[in-house]
Amino acid sequence: MEKQRGSFTNKLGFVLAAAGSAVGLGNLWRFPYLAAKYGGGIFLLVYLVLAVSFGFALMVTEIAIGRKTRLSAVGAYASLNKKFGFLGYLSCLVPFIITPYYCVIGGWVLKYFTVFVTNQVSSAASDDFFTGFITQAAAPVIFFAVYAAATALVVMMGVEKGIEKASRIMMPLLIVMTVIIAVFGLMQPGAVEGVRYYLMPDFSRFSATTVLAAMGQLFYSMSLAMGIMITYGSYMKKDANLEKSVRQIELFDTGIAFMAGLMIIPAVFAFSGGSEEALGKGPSLMFITLPKVFNSMQFGTAVGAVFFLLVLFAALTSSISLTETLVSILMDKLGWKRRKASIVVFVYLLAVGIPVSLGFGIWDFIAPMGMSLLDFFDFISNSVLMPIVAFLTCIFIGYVVKPETVIEEVELNGKFRIQKFYTIMIKYLAPVCLVAILIFAVMEAMGAISV
Ligand code: TRP
Repeated sequence: MEKQRGSFTNKLGFVLAAAGSAVGLGNLWRFPYLAAKYGGGIFLLVYLVLAVSFGFALMVTEIAIGRKTRLSAVGAYASLNKKFGFLGYLSCLVPFIITPYYCVIGGWVLKYFTVFVTNQVSSAASDDFFTGFITQAAAPVIFFAVYAAATALVVMMGVEKGIEKASRIMMPLLIVMTVIIAVFGLMQPGAVEGVRYYLMPDFSRFSATTVLAAMGQLFYSMSLAMGIMITYGSYMKKDANLEKSVRQIELFDTGIAFMAGLMIIPAVFAFSGGSEEALGKGPSLMFITLPKVFNSMQFGTAVGAVFFLLVLFAALTSSISLTETLVSILMDKLGWKRRKASIVVFVYLLAVGIPVSLGFGIWDFIAPMGMSLLDFFDFISNSVLMPIVAFLTCIFIGYVVKPETVIEEVELNGKFRIQKFYTIMIKYLAPVCLVAILIFAVMEAMGAISV
C-alpha cells in the first residue's frame, strides 16, 4: 500500500480493503436477526442514527490515530501517551473473544453450503433441521474445525492477499445475489407485512435495550473498538481524504446490512409468519429462513449453493483478518515465528470454539448468566468490552490527547466538515451515552431489570 501507484486506485484500495474486512457475518447473519428481534423498523432507525453520529466519530478517530502514529493498536495508544498503553491491550482482547465463535458460525455456513451442493434443500427447509444439526455433538464440531483450520492455514501461509483479491470479485457477486433473493422474497404472499415491520419504526418498541443492541452491532459490524481500524489507518496514505473514506466505508457496510435485513425479515413473514417466536430466533434466524426461501424458488438448490458459497467467502475474509490480528499480536509481543503463532492460535480457537459448539447440545448445561455460550461470548465482547474500550477511547482523545490532534490529522487533506460536531461527540455525548448503556447492559444481564 505504501508503494507509488495511481492515487485513485490507492484511495479506493484503502476503502475496499477496510470495507472488505468490515463486511462479513456481522452484516449478513447478525444484523438481520437483531433487527428482527428488536422491533424491526425501530432497530433500523436507531442503528442508522448511531452509525452516522457515533460510529462515524469513532471510526474517524481510530483511522486517524493509526495514520498519525503509523502503528497498530498496541503501539499506537502507548505512543500517544504511555499511561494509555493498556487501552491497546484491552482492545486486542475483543478479537480474542470474537474469533472462536465467529468460526463456529463459519462452520454452520460451511455445513449449509455442503447441504445445498448435495441437493438436500427440502430437508434443510424443514423446521427443525437447523436445531437438529447444531445440537449434535460431532457434526457441528467437525465443520467448525475444518473452517477454523482453513482460516488458520491461510494465515500461516501468509496468503491472505490472494483471498482478498478473490473477495473483490465475490463481494460484488454477493451483493447481486442478495438483491435477487430479496426481490424474490418480497414477491411472496405475506412479505409486505415484513417490509412494513422492517421499515416502519414502532416507537412503542423503543427501549434502552434497542440502543444497546444497536450499539453493540455497530461496533461489531464496523470492526470498531478493537483496534482493527487503527491498523488499517496505519496503512492509509497521508494524501487520502480521511473523512470521505470513512463515509464510504460506512455506506458500504450499512448498505449490505440493510439489504441482508430486507432479504431475511420479509421472508420470515412470508414463510414462518411474523410471530414473536419466528422473529426472535436469534443466531439461528438466517439458517432457518433462507432455506425455506430457496426451497420455494426455481433452481433453489443452485441459488442456495452459490449464495452460501459467497457468504462463506465473506465470512472467511473476516475470520482470516481476525485470526491474522491474533497471530500478529503473538508475533510482535512474544517474538514468535508466524508458523508457531498460527498453530497456537488454531489450538486456542479449538479450545474455545468446541465448547461453544457443544453448548447448543450435550454441554447446554453450561449457561453463564442464562445464555448459551455463544450468546455469552457475544454479550461480553459486544455489550461489555467494546463499550468500555469506546468509552476510554473517547476520554483519551477528548481530554488527554485532545480532539485537535485527530482534527489536524483529518485536515491534512481538505476540511473536516463536521469538526464541531465531532468534538462535542467525543468529549460529551459519546462518553455519557456509553456509560449509561453499559450500566444498563450489566444490570439487565444480572436480571436486575427486565425489558
Ligand atoms: N465486522 C466483521 C463482520 O461484520 C466482523 C469483525 C469484527 C471483523 N472484527 C473484525 C472482521 C476484525 C475482520 C477483522 O462480520
